[in-house]
Amino acid sequence: MTQQPSAQALVPFVSVENMMRLVHQIGLERILIDLTDAIEEDFLRWDCFDKTPRVASHSDIGVIELMPTSDGLRYGFKYVNGHPKNTREGLQTVTAFGMLAEVATGYPLLLSEMTLLTALRTAATSAMATRHLAPGDATVMAMIGNGAQSEFQALALKAVNGIREVRLYDIDPEATRKCAANLAGSGLKVVPCSSPQEAIEGAQVITTCTADKQYATILTDNMVGAGVHINAIGGDCPGKTELHRDILHRAEIFVEYTPQTRIEGEIQQVAPDHPVTELCQVIAGKAQGRRDARQITLFDGVGFAIEDFSALRKIHDYVQDGKFCQNLDMIADPDNPRDLFGMLMRSK
Ligand SMILES: NC(=O)c1ccc[n+]([C@@H]2O[C@H](COP(=O)([O-])OP(=O)(O)OC[C@H]3O[C@@H](n4cnc5c(N)ncnc54)[C@H](O)[C@@H]3O)[C@@H](O)[C@H]2O)c1
Repeated sequence: MTQQPSAQALVPFVSVENMMRLVHQIGLERILIDLTDAIEEDFLRWDCFDKTPRVASHSDIGVIELMPTSDGLRYGFKYVNGHPKNTREGLQTVTAFGMLAEVATGYPLLLSEMTLLTALRTAATSAMATRHLAPGDATVMAMIGNGAQSEFQALALKAVNGIREVRLYDIDPEATRKCAANLAGSGLKVVPCSSPQEAIEGAQVITTCTADKQYATILTDNMVGAGVHINAIGGDCPGKTELHRDILHRAEIFVEYTPQTRIEGEIQQVAPDHPVTELCQVIAGKAQGRRDARQITLFDGVGFAIEDFSALRKIHDYVQDGKFCQNLDMIADPDNPRDLFGMLMRSK
């Protein structure tokens, strides 16, 4: 006889549909602000976390990664892929899901879609870096790469950093048209551009978020003027970068977790001891961020597990009233914890 699952068997699950409802209920810009603050709170308690470069399984055409961390009370991981050729086949470059669990018992607390959540947390992380590194009066950004992440990036910088104008460029004009249409009515002035040079004109912040499985050169040295802040988000795998290496020699470089960024970030193009500063140090006031108005600051963002942990714990808070999740019968829960076999046989 089949029994109803017990309370311990059930794990709250946030589906794509519920994630979309949740975002609309709270408001997209509000969530981006909340996630920026949640990530910053966790970067402030950096030492509480287990940290390891993510576990990556590479193929010629992409990567599949697991991103685990724990703060001692809760454990989280994300499964995420990166396949730049996917969009040509009608599939996304990046998809993800993840889980939060209780360290005390090892039992899951939450299972969630994370394709949307990754776009939100990646944008929130750029906003956090921009908050600490960009010139204080920045109002114009260039967004190079107008794919799935791009609107989220622009809106996070609007909501958190006061950006008013976004200048768009993509090698595929169709992507720029899509991004411009999606951002119409957002309150941002949107300027589609036909070259990266045109896009960065007058921009104090440049975000590169392109997808190509190679050493690409989205920005060359002569394109980057004094005083700008760059969020380089798209180079996030061995052999996959976006900036000419000369830019790295002119910029002050800020990273999430140095051992992972050395493998995956723009800094794979420079010496293994090239100086970098971890953002957590800047946020904690232990290292300097922007020094002066002429300095070029570079956030070499690759995406780190703590950002996903922050996003999952925030979603866990949001769904406490049960409105935006459903319960999955996920953990086998025998009456006698040592009689798993008996539970199986009694279900015949
Ligand atoms: N750092 C992070 O935390 C993080 C998180 C998510 C995604 N990413 C990375 O960000 C990148 C973008 O992700 P997405 O989901 O938006 O991908 P996407 O495929 O939806 O969009 C990428 C866009 O880049 C454009 N592009 C490619 N080469 C270009 C070039 N030379 N100049 C201008 N545009 C170019 C493509 O035409 C496409 O529109 C990927 O490389 C992904 O791995 C990083």
